[in-house]
Amino acid sequence: MRAAAQGMIDTVRQIHPEPGDADPAQAYAYPPGRTWLRANMITTLDGAAWHDNRSGALGGAADHRLFALLRGLADAVIVGAGTVRTEGYGPVRPGPGWAGLRAGRPAVPRLAIVTRQIHLDLESPLFTAAGEPPILLTSPQAPAARLRAARRCAEVIVAADLATAIAELASAHPRLLCEGGPGVLAQVAAAGLLDELCLTVSPMLTAGDGGRILDGPALPAPARMRLGHVLIEDEFLFLRYTTTKEQL
Ligand SMILES: NC(=O)c1ccc[n+]([C@@H]2O[C@H](COP(=O)([O-])OP(=O)(O)OC[C@H]3O[C@@H](n4cnc5c(N)ncnc54)[C@H](OP(=O)(O)O)[C@@H]3O)[C@@H](O)[C@H]2O)c1
Repeated sequence: MRAAAQGMIDTVRQIHPEPGDADPAQAYAYPPGRTWLRANMITTLDGAAWHDNRSGALGGAADHRLFALLRGLADAVIVGAGTVRTEGYGPVRPGPGWAGLRAGRPAVPRLAIVTRQIHLDLESPLFTAAGEPPILLTSPQAPAARLRAARRCAEVIVAADLATAIAELASAHPRLLCEGGPGVLAQVAAAGLLDELCLTVSPMLTAGDGGRILDGPALPAPARMRLGHVLIEDEFLFLRYTTTKEQL
């Protein structure tokens, strides 16, 4: 991917469906007028979703630009508390070119953190320095004291299950981006909520104990997906698959 002067992705080399240059903002545009849940994940060639407990080591500059673009296109970013803790999430900050991408919308997408125990530092910048506070997607079993504390610094959705919580989130934020982690993404897929998987294939091998991009019980049957596009930069592949019958 080639970045324009301000760091916004300018054009990107596409190798499927047609070889040539593509406009990434168009290539990743959400379908209009409906709820759409996209996940963005990275894997090594040998299938590891992290190395040394972090996924950051697997990426590169092109991957970081795509990460920012996908955030810029979304209304809300769903992420598991495990990933917030291990990756040290902070507030979402506007990225290059977002003003154009987000015309008529808030400057940044809302962060929606999936958590049962609310084992999160509620005094960290994630909660105190965000323009709009994060939304916590939690369950009725959340510890009452943590729930009370969370309500002072976050919006809270309490729901019987994750699918119900995501449906409530989607009613105000239809363009959803899930950044994992594998535990949350496995549940999103199992609940039939995943419309699209953006998978970065990193040209790395790690072996070790890095898990897969979905970590959960086996689906009743393998979920067949359709290849939307393949982009390439710096030997990283950017694959876009959809799960719905509707092709973009
Ligand atoms: N390769 C990639 O693209 C990628 C992307 C993201 C993360 N990662 C890596 O994945 C690892 C973390 O993944 P993970 O699977 O352990 O964590 P995760 O999926 O990010 O978060 C798991 C946490 O989410 C909460 N949770 C899960 N299901 C829930 C439900 N149904 N209702 C309410 N809360 C629920 C729980 O939080 P509480 O404990 O707070 O209750 C649980 O501990 C890290 O190493 C990270 O670097 C890789």
